[in-house]
Amino acid sequence: MNKFGINLPKAYRRLEQLYDETVELASEDDIIADVGTDHGYLAVMLAKNHVGLKIIATDISEPSLKKAESLARSQNAQLECRVGDGLAPANEATLACICGIGGNEIIKILEDSKFCGKLILQPVPTEKDLRNYLLKAGYFIKKDYVILDEGKFYFVFVVDGKKHKNHYSKKDKMFGKTNLKHITPDFQEYLKNQINKLKFLENFDITSLSKESKKDIKQKQQYLKMCKKLLKRG
Ligand SMILES: C[S@@+](CC[C@H](N)C(=O)[O-])C[C@H]1O[C@@H](n2cnc3c(N)ncnc32)[C@H](O)[C@@H]1O
Repeated sequence: MNKFGINLPKAYRRLEQLYDETVELASEDDIIADVGTDHGYLAVMLAKNHVGLKIIATDISEPSLKKAESLARSQNAQLECRVGDGLAPANEATLACICGIGGNEIIKILEDSKFCGKLILQPVPTEKDLRNYLLKAGYFIKKDYVILDEGKFYFVFVVDGKKHKNHYSKKDKMFGKTNLKHITPDFQEYLKNQINKLKFLENFDITSLSKESKKDIKQKQQYLKMCKKLLKRG
């Protein structure tokens, strides 16, 4: 059990983080859609603790949505559950949470809906593709960072519509802007993980490789160096 009085799964720090970010980003008149709600944890946490806010839970799968309906009922939470693809069943939403879904699927949902409102996004994985898309499409990324929960890394994006301009350096695009501003213990763990994955490239002999492979290895070696430098800085 936790502060929400709901039996959450093992990796619930991620859900709590998504909840906190949603509450911080939302204003009283927002209509929130939890797209791809599945079990409905995030939507029910919001509906239970923020009575008055309109919360819509959607999922492309009817059996998944049934889980959300049942959780809402057991928690006495006011939740509207709608079946459908992406944001189509909740086109009145002004804040959308799209979490636990592949980055490229999230891109497709945003493209199809032409959504310009606030967003809480947590892709699994392909966070780089999603970041590049958000920047290209003109969304303002307020926060962009990694968290560690039960041995897994999750990138979180907090987006405030398309109101402001982004100032992202090449390095921000590589690591996530908020991670570079505040080097958290979770980001340090992420860097260690990246270093472990790539350390075999440190003294890699590239002489017999094609031009393309050489370029790719050199880029990864450069990235490895940056990871080490950032880890020292933290
Ligand atoms: C791994 S669960 C994530 C559940 C929850 N959002 C979370 O973060 O814990 C992914 C859910 O997204 C749903 N889903 C996948 N693609 C979708 C789409 N295009 N539109 C709506 N739901 C989708 C799936 O049916 C599944 O229930």
